[in-house]
Amino acid sequence: MGPSRNWKKTLGGLSVFWLMAQAQTQSTPTASSSSSPPPQYTLPVSANEAPPVIPNIRDPLAVDAQTACPGYVASNVKQTASGLTASLSLAGHACNVYGTDIDSLNLTVEYQTTDRLHVEIVPTHIGAGNATQYLIPPSVVAKPGVEESNAESDLEFSWTNEPSFGFEVIRKSTKDVLFSTKGKKLVFENQFIEFASPLPENYNLYGLGESVHAFRLSNNYTKTFYAADAGATTDINIYGTHPFYLETRYFTQSPSGGLSLVTTNEAEPNKNYTSFSHGVYSRNAHGQDIVLQPDGITWRAIGGSIDLYFFSGPTQPEVTTSYLKAVGLPALQQYWTFGFHQCRWGYKSWSDLEDVVDNHIKFGIPLETVWTDIDWMLRYRDFENEPVGFDYEAGNSFLQRLHDGGRHYVPIFDSAIYIPNPQIESDAYPTFDRGNETGSFLKNPDGSLYIGSVWPGYTVFPDWLSEGAEQWWIDEMVLYYQKTAYDGAWVDMSEISSFCVGSCGSGNLGLNPVHPPFALPGETKNPVLKYPEWFNVTNTTEAAAASSALASFSSAYPAPTSTGTASYVRTTPTPGVRDVNYPPYAINNVKGPLAVAAISPNATHADGTLEYDMHNIWGHGIIKATYAALSKVFPGHRPFIIARSTFSGSGALAGHWGGDNWSNWPSMAFSIPQALQMSILGIPMFGSDTCGFADNTDMELCNRWMQLSAFFPFYRNHNILGAISQEAYTWASVIDASKSAMTIRYQLLPYLYTLFYHAHTAGHTVMRALAWEFPNDPSLASADRQFLLGPSILVIPVLEPGATSVNGVLPGLIEGHEKWYDWYNQTAVPVPSQVNTTIDAPLGHIPVFVRGGSVLPLQQPALTTRDARQSPWDVLAALDKDGNATGDLYLDDGVSVQPNATLTAEFTVQQRKLVAVMNQGGWVDGNSLRNITILGVDSVRRAVKFNGRPVPRRNVHLDEAKHTLVVSGFDISAWAGDHWTLEW
Ligand code: NOJ
Repeated sequence: MGPSRNWKKTLGGLSVFWLMAQAQTQSTPTASSSSSPPPQYTLPVSANEAPPVIPNIRDPLAVDAQTACPGYVASNVKQTASGLTASLSLAGHACNVYGTDIDSLNLTVEYQTTDRLHVEIVPTHIGAGNATQYLIPPSVVAKPGVEESNAESDLEFSWTNEPSFGFEVIRKSTKDVLFSTKGKKLVFENQFIEFASPLPENYNLYGLGESVHAFRLSNNYTKTFYAADAGATTDINIYGTHPFYLETRYFTQSPSGGLSLVTTNEAEPNKNYTSFSHGVYSRNAHGQDIVLQPDGITWRAIGGSIDLYFFSGPTQPEVTTSYLKAVGLPALQQYWTFGFHQCRWGYKSWSDLEDVVDNHIKFGIPLETVWTDIDWMLRYRDFENEPVGFDYEAGNSFLQRLHDGGRHYVPIFDSAIYIPNPQIESDAYPTFDRGNETGSFLKNPDGSLYIGSVWPGYTVFPDWLSEGAEQWWIDEMVLYYQKTAYDGAWVDMSEISSFCVGSCGSGNLGLNPVHPPFALPGETKNPVLKYPEWFNVTNTTEAAAASSALASFSSAYPAPTSTGTASYVRTTPTPGVRDVNYPPYAINNVKGPLAVAAISPNATHADGTLEYDMHNIWGHGIIKATYAALSKVFPGHRPFIIARSTFSGSGALAGHWGGDNWSNWPSMAFSIPQALQMSILGIPMFGSDTCGFADNTDMELCNRWMQLSAFFPFYRNHNILGAISQEAYTWASVIDASKSAMTIRYQLLPYLYTLFYHAHTAGHTVMRALAWEFPNDPSLASADRQFLLGPSILVIPVLEPGATSVNGVLPGLIEGHEKWYDWYNQTAVPVPSQVNTTIDAPLGHIPVFVRGGSVLPLQQPALTTRDARQSPWDVLAALDKDGNATGDLYLDDGVSVQPNATLTAEFTVQQRKLVAVMNQGGWVDGNSLRNITILGVDSVRRAVKFNGRPVPRRNVHLDEAKHTLVVSGFDISAWAGDHWTLEW
């Protein structure tokens, strides 16, 4: 959260982070040997500054490696059982552009499964302990291997030495070149790797997260991977690293019978196209720039190796499944985690939380979980409660009441660990001592502790490669649970963030606890935070006051401007030596030098590995340790973790939130592409800070956002310290809007849970892009202002202020089979295909449609998921144009990693007969079947029959105008037995 470079625009203009970056007056450092704390020393802003770099992609003096370097030649090519191996040697004089050229490389090609091809290029001689070329150990990040010998693949690898070594991956069935480095040089140096491939004109590329960017990636965009504690701003590198993309290509049948590629702007309306998708995963954790240009993609990494996996698809679901099977299928979350979560920075006591719970109950708003931010901690130290507001005993009785009411509690855990001031006895911190004794913290190259700074002051950082760290973290979480019965873990600051450059605390511990080099929200002189656009229209009086206060504040604290005169650090390679703090190739890191706002690249792990090589996977390390810890706290239960920094595969263990967004309309709109990106990256448990984190929200924005997020898997309202309250009950209209959307969400909980089951077992997506469900329609390739939840629910939210309607597409009508039903009035919506249709959406109403062809098992809304799970069942069958529908249901205890009792049901409708077939795996759900509703019914037979027996007329309600049939009066447990049928 340090000051960010201002060469990128932010979503919110004058941001809270900028306000926070205004330096506090520095107090004079004084050390004291008495037990009373000395006046707090504030780190100077300069502590988090380093001489600037100019990103290579913007450096007019940058050398083009393609021009300067010789490339490689392949020799010694040998066929193997699963592919081939070869040696690559430099094809000329070393260029040493951004590192030292590695003259000899090994190429391995493996057909690992029928749909996965592996191409790996590594140095022939890896330095001792991987010190000069870090290859990610499989124990740190899963490394997919050969699973099928002689796998028959639709992918074909070929290579050439003309003019230098290059390779190509072709889809055999379409003869389409998916990836080709032929004609481009391979550059492989100790601090720089480059390879490039052309892409079709106007390509459709998705993924390469984490970013706040349009869902379909632009073709003039550099995606940088360097985990950064940076607000969720468009186009910059933020918290996570997922070097995977999915590409979709649309084709039309050419007159000769072959397929010809069609770009999305050439595609004709209402025409059916064929599409093929494939995926590319680069298992490299180093800082990277992925340069997307109109004609292709260039991968540049500042270390590691080339470890590429190609997934043949050919559909999006198949690509996603294969990718997720390779990196880790998404975790199945506990059932309760799909309830609504309320959080904020600024809940200062158990009684604040109790008020939040009471108010939700009072206004009849579902609430599942209350969260606390760093306020719960004693001087921001993990595992120690602030004694006044968060007294342990009071906490026990509050948590008892909370749990008895079926609700849950999740506190934040920060990644950095306070290191006490040795001169102040009362500053002792046993958590630090225990970690230090077990060698659990990162070191400086000289073996001393690496000491950065985060909220509590000078801090150390766990070293997940050390022998002791994971066990120490497990022990701390277990110990803490004995004091405070939490239900899950919110892992923050895990990029890993530090508020100063280098080991700034070394030799300075006598100053601890030091204050961050910026004002915390609430500490600034800023009287008023910004409000969303349009606030002045809906809230005239407040807006006038706010804007004059803001104007005077802004003139007192002008926004920082670039001087334009900076002289940049440019380093040149030294043979055999890596410059990890200032690598010769400067990636486009939002924070500039790698050491700014993060622990420095030279921080050293127990096995000698440098942070430089691990930076992007530190966050994955704390996720793994937290998963192990929660598995110990709750044996056999699925750990619930929401973490900030993630890597490929993190979704197998944790969920993620979108980080520090703003209370403004663009932040809300971008939450949809953020979620869709996380869907294909294997983190379906995703949601954004609803109503916005930084700045003040307002009634209208919060109203729309509470409704939108109700259809995201992870549904949490979170707010920054110092901003106005934004719980749903703050405004009458938001109470109604939230309840209306939550009613749908809670009815759909069994559907959402079943979707997660499929994500977990088969790699299916939960939130879906229109392009994936309607792959024959190129006009949907960029659609990211609406989305589907699973295959059956379409959401078209209002994303602009002042609107009373929304333009949206009801997709899939090209072939005339699709049918959509309005969720609320249950009637089919007549719409022409591919045309934006204007849908009524007054404030408080979110348009939701059910896809014809779906059968949805529903339960009743309730204030908690526990109560919802004990309610009667309804079945909603929405028929397609041919009168058919399918659906399914998965149930278990909702908590166990390996449930010993499950139940599944499959639903089909054909020829006016709905059949539910149950597979009894021991899970008993005793709730009754209440209603069966069929949408799209033309007529009924004389007698409606349930299990072959006529249903009394009083229990049958046919609405001929609406074409709905509602049947009730069943006297059964919904899922007992092996099947039931309904005929009409
Ligand atoms: C940064 C997190 O992203 C945010 O959600 C949290 O409120 C602050 N840290 C304070 O802990």
